Amino acid sequence: MKNPFENANVLITGGLGFIGSNLAIRLVGLGANVTLVDNMLPRQGGNLFNIEPVKGKVHVNFSDIRNALSMNYLVQGKDYVFHLAGQVNHVDSMRNPIQDLDINCKGTLVLLEACHHNNPDARIIFAGTRGEYGKSVHLPVDEEHPTNPVGIYAITNLTAEKMVLVYHNVKGLQGVCLRITNTFGPRHQMMHDEYGVLNWFIRKALDDEAIPVFGDGAILRDFLYVDDLLDGLLAIATTPGAYGDVYNVGTGRGISFRELAETIVAVAGQGRVAHVPFTRERKEVEPGDYVADIRKIQEATGWNPGIPLEEGIRRTVEFYRKYRDHYWKR
Ligand SMILES: NC(=O)c1ccc[n+]([C@@H]2O[C@H](COP(=O)([O-])OP(=O)(O)OC[C@H]3O[C@@H](n4cnc5c(N)ncnc54)[C@H](O)[C@@H]3O)[C@@H](O)[C@H]2O)c1
Repeated sequence: MKNPFENANVLITGGLGFIGSNLAIRLVGLGANVTLVDNMLPRQGGNLFNIEPVKGKVHVNFSDIRNALSMNYLVQGKDYVFHLAGQVNHVDSMRNPIQDLDINCKGTLVLLEACHHNNPDARIIFAGTRGEYGKSVHLPVDEEHPTNPVGIYAITNLTAEKMVLVYHNVKGLQGVCLRITNTFGPRHQMMHDEYGVLNWFIRKALDDEAIPVFGDGAILRDFLYVDDLLDGLLAIATTPGAYGDVYNVGTGRGISFRELAETIVAVAGQGRVAHVPFTRERKEVEPGDYVADIRKIQEATGWNPGIPLEEGIRRTVEFYRKYRDHYWKR
């Protein structure tokens, strides 16, 4: 089968972050011409070391998605735009909600306007979050589940998703939206614990410290390894019939935080599990159990997550054992 990304022109917003950089490495391997735009927002995942394997093989633009002049230029001639730039810190979205609104909503709108006026044929893939559902009223959570976000980050993601769909439906752009579960793996920020819980647990294990599990640790989450997410992103991007709709991406399997922490200790051979009380700011944005129903994306694209949790953790542990100096303190 022909590789649809060979010689394709691709723009990745947030391309120096966790998902964006892993996607860039994958796409370069597939023969795409890859351009990254990232503003290196402090305390987020932007890290030049992330793109070390493709150094010199991608174009890097240090700019902001809210900058219309930059975006008007950068979208030109692109076949695909993977929109991964965002304010992604749930805790920070409550401390600094105006910045969250500005980046996630205005930034998305600037990008959509840029495509509308400069490249209406671009295929836009928006990375939203499972947080858009809020507290689950049934499990697994399918795309028809009510959306009742419990934090500003999830509200701005839901709004951005709706904007992409309006530009698809009303202005004729090609946009598809994903609601992505907790994703982990190499190249995630390891500076603090405010987002990316599984990666943070791995850091605690590698520092041979206690892994702090809130409460009794019984809350369920659905953890996806980043390579599986990349397969999902590429599958959805290359399924023309998928555009104009919303898809969950996850594994469809739930695991408790307690079991997760125990698995990390077992795989790393380091660290220990400690139960600690919820902090107030964590309790405020904690939606409870989540397990994704992934039948819709499976049926649309044939995509299936294939990497077992233990294997994903093993690969992640191996990566940070080698490269921790680039991630622990920056
Ligand atoms: N990692 C997950 O578990 C997860 C789950 C659901 C959804 N998502 C979504 O996927 C996307 C990528 O997340 P990630 O985990 O790679 O986070 P990340 O922090 O590693 O990457 C985000 C990148 O966006 C950049 N950025 C922020 N504001 C910007 C702006 N105004 N202009 C240009 N660049 C900007 C940051 O500098 C950073 O490099 C986000 O939209 C996030 O909401 C991630």
